[in-house]
Amino acid sequence: MNVNPLRRVPLVAKWPVTPCRSASSKAPRPQKPSSKSPKSAAIKRRQAIPPRQHHQDRPTPQGTQSEPPNAETTAKPGHGIPPRALTFLGISALTISMYCGYLYASYTREVNKAQTLNVPRDVSDRYNTTAATFDADVELSEKAMGLGKKRRDLIRQARGHVLEVSCGTGRNLPFYELGERRGLDADGHAAVLGCRSVTFVDLSPQMVAITKEKFEELYPAFPAVFRACDAGKVELSDLGRSGVKVQEAPVYFDTVVQTMGLCSMPDPVATLRHLGSVTEPASGRILLLEHGRSYYDWLNRILDNLAPAHADRHGCWWNRDIGDIVRESGLEIVEEKRWHLGTTWRYVLRPKQSTEKARS
Ligand SMILES: C[S@@+](CC[C@H](N)C(=O)[O-])C[C@H]1O[C@@H](n2cnc3c(N)ncnc32)[C@H](O)[C@@H]1O
Repeated sequence: MNVNPLRRVPLVAKWPVTPCRSASSKAPRPQKPSSKSPKSAAIKRRQAIPPRQHHQDRPTPQGTQSEPPNAETTAKPGHGIPPRALTFLGISALTISMYCGYLYASYTREVNKAQTLNVPRDVSDRYNTTAATFDADVELSEKAMGLGKKRRDLIRQARGHVLEVSCGTGRNLPFYELGERRGLDADGHAAVLGCRSVTFVDLSPQMVAITKEKFEELYPAFPAVFRACDAGKVELSDLGRSGVKVQEAPVYFDTVVQTMGLCSMPDPVATLRHLGSVTEPASGRILLLEHGRSYYDWLNRILDNLAPAHADRHGCWWNRDIGDIVRESGLEIVEEKRWHLGTTWRYVLRPKQSTEKARS
């Protein structure tokens, strides 16, 4: 009678089952040694026992072989990072350190150069030559800093007779709401919103010309005034030239706007004081979006070190303390906000005397 000896072997008791072999596995199992002949039993056992295998080589529960180990991706005992990842990390570290070295060398060279420059306080004439490329030069950094939204949020507050000084190439133009309408203000109160008239001023004739061209393309039907003049010398009579008949006297601007302008003028405190004098005393507002010193000393050191070179090239002193300028001007602070490590400043101001005049 041909009896399979394996049938009678108590498997669990004598032959340990490896965890990855399921009960349904078809892989050959070790045979029970025969009690009749020790020698033949040993031979049989040798034939029956499968050769030692790595964990990866063992049959899967379904009886299929897994992929052979990959020499490149298999972690060697002792450290867990595959060689390919190590190479990548090494190359990355080398590239970063070379780039940092390059930046540091450029920075040191620029600082040394900046210290030897004799830059005048008034660098505003630089805009006459950079007007044509101004938009392209600032576009990327403004996008990266999200300045478009900050401009829009500020300009949306403009209402009544509006004066924008240091208007540059008209980067705020798309955000004006032209024409008055009734609506609700930021506090939910009924108010007259929108601009009744707009007047644009910049010291650089080249800059004003670009603003005018953009404005006429954007709002062909709306009359506006464009003047190449010093923001510190704007006259209230400029308002009358906007084509809007203004009966009341004296006439003030209801909103004065300036973005990124205090950095470029030789006497920003005097200019702010003058702007306060042409702003409607009771309800008029001066809206500023400026850039200058940071909250952090390390960043201010960098701004200070590079300021002469930056001013000489771009016509802007980027290390000014905008907070100090505003306080010195004597205007009243209605709202103050800062972003980008403190270097971007937004102010809503009003003339100091407005509270006294409003009471009388
Ligand atoms: C950095 S640009 C800013 C332009 C624009 N406001 C903007 O936000 O993109 C500074 C502008 O201020 C103008 N500017 C400098 N000094 C001025 C002054 N005293 N009066 C009027 N504009 C002045 C320059 O001609 C230049 O167009």
